[in-house]
Amino acid sequence: MIEYRDIHKAYDTPVLSGVSLKVEPGECLSIVGPSGTGKSVLLKTTNGLLRPDRGEVFIEGEPVFNSGRRTLEKIRRKVGYVFQYAALFDSMTVYENVCQGLPDGDARHRHSPEVLRRVCEALEAVNLEPAHILNVLPAELSGGMRKRVGLARAIVGRPRIVLYDEPVTGLDPVNSAVVSLLITDIQEQMKVTSIVVTHDIEQALGISQRIALLEHGKLRFVGTPEEFKQSQDPVVQAFANRQAATAVALKIMEE
Ligand SMILES: Nc1ncnc2c1ncn2[C@@H]1O[C@H](COP(=O)(O)OP(=O)(O)OP(=O)(O)O)[C@@H](O)[C@H]1O
Ligand SMILES: [Mg+2]
Repeated sequence: MIEYRDIHKAYDTPVLSGVSLKVEPGECLSIVGPSGTGKSVLLKTTNGLLRPDRGEVFIEGEPVFNSGRRTLEKIRRKVGYVFQYAALFDSMTVYENVCQGLPDGDARHRHSPEVLRRVCEALEAVNLEPAHILNVLPAELSGGMRKRVGLARAIVGRPRIVLYDEPVTGLDPVNSAVVSLLITDIQEQMKVTSIVVTHDIEQALGISQRIALLEHGKLRFVGTPEEFKQSQDPVVQAFANRQAATAVALKIMEE
């Protein structure tokens, strides 16, 4: 469904140094890794928001970068994106924000009953009551609701793939569990393939069929949650449990 082939990207220093990974149809794959290791950068290459220096991404076999504008538009329609920090437009209502997730052509018909219906459907799918929320500005919402509006925006175009960048960061445990349940719901009900970038390892273990650990621009580990928990690699262990993380932290402080 998604293939990253030898992705390289550098800014001042190398960020991604040869990432190759395949995500199967219907799968939910989580990406974990230290801050600043290129998780968001990798995610943004998926639908062409960011061009790698080398390598190619394939969506259902079609290259994202080595293709015409038409193909890229078609690919973008297949991909919903939940941005880090929710990234809603403060001056737009919830309705207008969710409309942003529609392909350009459809978004132009913002006042049509069909668009209204789809926006309402998307909000209901993330447990938000359209009647209460459509005309509200993001500033009036709680953090958990904002994240869910971000989810609604990502699914309103009925994508085949949904990319989540830190969907639960900054949420309390209950709201975080709600978002995790919604991600699984969306995966199962809408039959989407999902990639979830997260710092919440419990979430990753709970919702995904496979976990990838990105470190120093390379994939250090790819495997099932069970394999992740059993891994003997100290870096994986540092993510899998707090004790191991403390041991690694102490070593760094000693150096
Ligand atoms: N537009 C940019 N210009 C320059 N450097 C950038 C740009 N975008 C990302 N970087 C750098 O690339 C590196 C990886 O960034 P990225 O946002 O992908 O990290 P991340 O793994 O998502 O981190 P976090 O977990 O904190 O979100 C960072 O060092 C960042 O400073
Ligand atoms: Mg990030």
